[in-house]
Amino acid sequence: MIFNTVNIEDSTLSFLERNNRFFTDLETANRFIQEVSGIINFFNDIEEVLELKNIVEEKLTLVSEPYRREYGDFQTNDELAEKVVNYILKKEDSSDIEFILEPTCGKGSFILTCIENIPAIKKITGIEIYLPYVWETKFKILNFFISNQKHNKPEIEIIHANVFYFDFRTVAQQTKEYKTLIIGNPPWVTNSELGSIKSLNLPKKSNFKKHAGFDAMTGKGNFDIGESIALLMLNNFNNHNGYFGFLIKNSVVKNLIFDLKQNNYRIGDSEKLNIDSKKEFNASVDACLFVTKLNTEPHFTCQELNFYTRQKLSVFGWHKNNFVYSVTEYLNAKDIEGRSQFEWRQGIKHDCSKVMELEKMNDYYVNGLKQEVYLENDLLYGLLKSSDLKAEQTDRYRKLVIVTQKKIGQDTGYIKQKYPLTYKYLLKNKECFEKRKSSIYNGKPEFSIFGVGDYSFALYKVAISGLYKRTRFTLVLPDNDKAVMLDDTCYFIGFNNLNYAKIAQYFLNHEHTQQFLKSIIFPDSKRLITKNVLMRIDFLKLSKILDFNTAKKQLTDINEEDWNRFLELLDTKKESQLALF
Ligand SMILES: C[S@@+](CC[C@H](N)C(=O)[O-])C[C@H]1O[C@@H](n2cnc3c(N)ncnc32)[C@H](O)[C@@H]1O
Repeated sequence: MIFNTVNIEDSTLSFLERNNRFFTDLETANRFIQEVSGIINFFNDIEEVLELKNIVEEKLTLVSEPYRREYGDFQTNDELAEKVVNYILKKEDSSDIEFILEPTCGKGSFILTCIENIPAIKKITGIEIYLPYVWETKFKILNFFISNQKHNKPEIEIIHANVFYFDFRTVAQQTKEYKTLIIGNPPWVTNSELGSIKSLNLPKKSNFKKHAGFDAMTGKGNFDIGESIALLMLNNFNNHNGYFGFLIKNSVVKNLIFDLKQNNYRIGDSEKLNIDSKKEFNASVDACLFVTKLNTEPHFTCQELNFYTRQKLSVFGWHKNNFVYSVTEYLNAKDIEGRSQFEWRQGIKHDCSKVMELEKMNDYYVNGLKQEVYLENDLLYGLLKSSDLKAEQTDRYRKLVIVTQKKIGQDTGYIKQKYPLTYKYLLKNKECFEKRKSSIYNGKPEFSIFGVGDYSFALYKVAISGLYKRTRFTLVLPDNDKAVMLDDTCYFIGFNNLNYAKIAQYFLNHEHTQQFLKSIIFPDSKRLITKNVLMRIDFLKLSKILDFNTAKKQLTDINEEDWNRFLELLDTKKESQLALF
């Protein structure tokens, strides 16, 4: 039974019932449907013909919508499909589109909208992996032509197939003379989500991307199935005249533009039009309409707009060899692009917060399990998290963290001898450490932590959260003479000289640096600020723009000598970096 999960309009059922004399054999039935609607090979075999005949005669329609997460199933509503198609049709030489390709056509809203709005179409190819949707699309088209018998009838194929195993090369060959529109809304699902549900819905080769992509570069080794489908389309059709328009996650567009430098697709005039995916799909994903012109001189940037108001937000992409969020802002601040003289560090990682993080009461501590704990003070350090980095300066902390090592991999055997209470406590909670999933802890001494080194014990830190949009930096002061730690959502540079830390903070919070950061940070990234971003701030280049006389208005307790020594420090750092090569 196939048709019991398909929506068929009553008017279509009545029409089919009136014409049931054509449902005798496969060829007659298919010829009849093609004459009415343009759809070729509507039925695959005689069983389907007979099943539909039976449904029509019995007037059965039984629709149940199953769980379809593995297909990233967010069907486009008709209104949005219409707005998207009309937007693309307003583009220069897009009115005479002849060929429509919808690689994951679902219930067919884009195909129907194209039939209704593009009179010159000669051919439509839709592909869909889920059989009930293939039928739903076919019936929708049939229903449209039953009610609009005089409408132009293109040749239409709705194919039940997995897009990753479909022969697009042949289709591209057959349609190379046609003005083309590749349109759709590919699944919004990532390979790791697929992995978790053991789906087979994966690209043929899991290393489908020749190049790393922006998010992969920034530590997210996870790709979107929609991205692989977009690449499949561009690989096969970038030499066709026409347009490509996909509803897709924002992160995918960023990756597509990032990869353009290497794959040199002949696409240009790219636009990313942000949509409200909560409203359109009831989904909490940042998504957009990505439109690009095919077979044109490649452009490595993309204009970002609001889909509803058309307000221009930014032009992002490549400026020479740098990938930036706003080319215009970047042009005003690019003189400080370079390599930081200070190594930006991420804070401490332990993956065991219930045990490792405590609050101080009078003479005892309380851990995340609400247990009263007695510990030596020595290994306990104040801890700041992203949410604690809101002010310009802080000498407060809410929690303490047990710092079991001074550097990565250090033997932790010393704790037993020197800090028996701490050791007893850690041993009692050994299970929490053993349960840590990350493989970085494998084969490491017990109670190991990460993101620790000499730099963690620098007394003065200039820090920023990696999670928030805020680009200002906080000066973190010690707790008496003990350094305060940051967690692994934060980045920092450390100093043992308070004045240097203040000057570094002044450099970083200067409006020129702020403009530079805003020009390179993508505001919808999961982690906005990364080590890569921060390492692009060249303090030495910045020092050529800033001057002490202006700085001293803010840095009231810093004298010119400190300032000059800091500049010398930058120079020595530059030399020591050069010495490495
Ligand atoms: C986000 S929905 C969008 C459907 C349709 N394009 C629309 O705009 O309404 C994605 C569709 O892709 C289909 N799909 C998922 N994986 C597929 C694959 N490997 N091959 C073909 N279709 C696939 C799903 O069944 C689903 O209908």
